[in-house]
Amino acid sequence: MIDPHTDRVLITGAAGEIGKALRSGLRAEWRHLRLTDIRPIPDLAANEEAVIADIGDRPALERMMQGVTALVHMTGAPAEHDLEMLFRVNARGLFDMFEAARLAGVRRIVFASSNHAFGCYPIEEPVTPAHPARPDSLYGVFKVLGETMLRYYFDRHDIRSVSLRIGTYRRLPIDQRSLATWLSPRDVVQLVERSLRHPDPGCLVANGYSANTRIKVRDPNWDFLGYRPVDNAEDHVEMLRGMGVDVDGAWEWPEHGGAFARMPERPARA
Ligand SMILES: NC(=O)c1ccc[n+]([C@@H]2O[C@H](COP(=O)([O-])OP(=O)(O)OC[C@H]3O[C@@H](n4cnc5c(N)ncnc54)[C@H](O)[C@@H]3O)[C@@H](O)[C@H]2O)c1
Repeated sequence: MIDPHTDRVLITGAAGEIGKALRSGLRAEWRHLRLTDIRPIPDLAANEEAVIADIGDRPALERMMQGVTALVHMTGAPAEHDLEMLFRVNARGLFDMFEAARLAGVRRIVFASSNHAFGCYPIEEPVTPAHPARPDSLYGVFKVLGETMLRYYFDRHDIRSVSLRIGTYRRLPIDQRSLATWLSPRDVVQLVERSLRHPDPGCLVANGYSANTRIKVRDPNWDFLGYRPVDNAEDHVEMLRGMGVDVDGAWEWPEHGGAFARMPERPARA
């Protein structure tokens, strides 16, 4: 277990959407939060320290890892970025971040993986984290790379980890698909907190959703983690109907990855 009172936790991607939710949800209880991003991180509390750095700066990663017990790795280039940038941040940067953590003796890593790690499975198939990965995009491939590195770190270096296959993180659901995949701000905080506090998660992969009625995965490893989501996208169906979203018709997407699984391949250099 990572102790909120004594252990230092490094949150990467701290200026991002999930990073902001984690900061506001964790800072009351977690005494030593180190935050990093390439963008400014505003409004630091007394127990937060910020390191502004590019994930491509390996010496900076090694410095920021000093004294850290747990890494919550949220840095990421979104899927729509060009392939060079995706590789630089989500593959090379991920590798450097994890290696810096390993070399510094970090004991636990919580990693923002994605439902795009299994996005090529047909939607009728209730996929579990135990199924082999079937990424739907290079974005998904690099998430599987992260999960695979964490498997290796567990087997060879005894580092405990939780890879969270996050669905759709937003303040509210946004479309038909997110009625199945939504992850709310307070639920993402609980999920990360459980991943840190668990006495021994081994090398766990868990789905990152709220308690959505229309959920399409199975055995998401929530009981093991002690995660009890409190939100449900279904509570926002009327709002979506009012926005003209078809929430009652046939399911729009044939695969778990939604649009990603059908996107045309892009050239190697955009
Ligand atoms: N939001 C979702 O629905 C969702 C779903 C699945 C997985 N995820 C994953 O969760 C993580 C966080 O998502 P988010 O929605 O908060 O994304 P976000 O884009 O809001 O935050 C990502 C952060 O990474 C930082 N970053 C990007 N390039 C960097 C670089 N070169 N050096 C240092 N920092 C850099 C950005 O400045 C940003 O603050 C990402 O890894 C994402 O892939 C998100």
